[in-house]
Amino acid sequence: MIKKLENYDLSAHNSFRMKAVCALYVEYDSPKDLEQMPWDEFPKPLLSIGSGSNILFTGDFPGTVLHSAIKYTKYVDLGMDDLPIAVGAGVTVDDFIAEVCGHGLWGMENLSLIPGEIGASVVQNIGAYGAEMKDVVTGVSCYDVVERRMVKFPTPQCGFAYRDSLFKQSDGRYIVTGVLVRLSRKPRPNLSYKGLAESFGGVMPETPTQVREAVIALRNGKLPDPKEIGSAGSFFKNPVVTAAHFAKICEGYATVPHFVLEGGMIKVPAAWMIEQCGFKGAVQGGAAVYEKQPLVIVNASGTASAQDVLTLENRIISAVRERFGVELHPEVVHI
Ligand code: EPU
Repeated sequence: MIKKLENYDLSAHNSFRMKAVCALYVEYDSPKDLEQMPWDEFPKPLLSIGSGSNILFTGDFPGTVLHSAIKYTKYVDLGMDDLPIAVGAGVTVDDFIAEVCGHGLWGMENLSLIPGEIGASVVQNIGAYGAEMKDVVTGVSCYDVVERRMVKFPTPQCGFAYRDSLFKQSDGRYIVTGVLVRLSRKPRPNLSYKGLAESFGGVMPETPTQVREAVIALRNGKLPDPKEIGSAGSFFKNPVVTAAHFAKICEGYATVPHFVLEGGMIKVPAAWMIEQCGFKGAVQGGAAVYEKQPLVIVNASGTASAQDVLTLENRIISAVRERFGVELHPEVVHI
């Protein structure tokens, strides 16, 4: 079924809770709907959103916002060790994770409590606690708005990278309708993230639900509850620098948190740099840098304007550039 709403306020469709009106809002609940849409009549540009948990609307949107309500979970055979599962783009990521953990299936538990829907999870290649969506995805089904037909991409063709994918780069061409994941019945806890391993104190978790609960406790301790305070999670990506640049960053500090990547480049937590620049808790109009995790910008007053957020973003980028010679890039998509 296709639902259309004109001049529609998107406040309830973005976790930052920015007021933004789109010319047309279209919701659909099957790939067939997409094949039957009157694409030529829709105001342009087109923008597909999930639950809007990684978007900053910087003003009204002159085009058409599309939202998938395609919701299904299909298990091929729950008895298999290595189990393919097809899931619809409109399913809430955390509901799906709770369900598969309940079935004793490993692979997604580290991504627990990440806000958003399955479609957006592959667009953004969501990640947390040493795991990324791409680790479990085996294929993605899309509607191609240019060719006007359904297409399937096996994982090697999805262009997955850190918070990036072919779908994110496609300028709205590919609308994700469903994702195929492969999860494991054999235990395979991923405790590569130090804080998560510490939650278990050397004892191996026995079920994915145990890991899920530990992840939820970690997130609740650091990240704002989207029900209580507007934000879009991490606002910036963690930058990657050369070893020589890292040595310069370290000057004057006893230790600097970092992760050495394959090939020798070094990822430095943006949160640490933002904190060093004195931005923890910084306020700009109704927006603020979250006290417990400075990588997150929050709509502290509930009435922050996009301008407040953009001004704070630019203050942070300038300060980090000046102090560390590092250019921060937003992770949150600006519309
Ligand atoms: N740090 C500080 N000060 C702070 C907080 C953190 O210096 O107040 C430093 C610490 O050294 C800490 C490091 O930053 O060890 C990393 O912090 P954290 O583990 O909280 O993770 P992050 O790198 O800041 C990334 C993801 C998160 C994800 C966490 C956990 C990005 C952009 N963000 O954040 O993802 O939940 O790791 O795996 O990669 C999101 O994408 O919206 C998101 C929340």
